[in-house]
Amino acid sequence: MKKFFLVLTSSIITLLLSTAGFAQGDPAAGQAKAALCATCHRADGNSILAITPKLAGQNASYLVKQLMDFKSGNRPGVTMAAMVAALSEEDMQDIAFWYASQEVTLGGC
Ligand code: HEC
Repeated sequence: MKKFFLVLTSSIITLLLSTAGFAQGDPAAGQAKAALCATCHRADGNSILAITPKLAGQNASYLVKQLMDFKSGNRPGVTMAAMVAALSEEDMQDIAFWYASQEVTLGGC
C-alpha cells in the first residue's frame, strides 16, 4: 500500500512538472482571436507593410513575451499597446501559437 502511494505521488509530481512552465496555446482559437491583427500583420502573419513586422514562423515564446511587454509598457509602442490592452495571457498564447505555426514567406516589405 505504501509503495502504491509512493508511485501515485511521483506520477502526479511528474505530470505537474511536465505541464508547468510549458504553456501551450491553441492555434485554432488564436486564428480567430487574431482577426484584428490581420489588418496590419495579415491573416497568416506575413505582413506586407514595411513598418509592420512579420509574425509568421516566429518563436511562440518570443511573441508572447513581446505582447506581454507591450501590455505592461516594458516595450514602448502606442499602436501595439492599444492592440493588446484587452488580451488575456491565454489570448496571447493562442495567437502566438497560431502565428508560430504559419510559414514565413520572403519579400513583401
Ligand atoms: C494598426 C496596425 C497594427 C495592428 C492592427 C496590430 N499590430 Fe502588431 N505591430 C504593429 C507595428 C507597427 C509593430 C511594430 C512596433 C514596433 O516595433 O515599435 C507591431 C509589432 C508587433 C509585434 C512585435 C513583433 C516583433 O518582431 O517584435 C507583435 C508580436 C505584434 N505586433 C502582434 C500583434 C497582434 C497579436 C495583434 C492583434 C491583437 C497586432 N499585432 C495588431 C502594427 C499593428
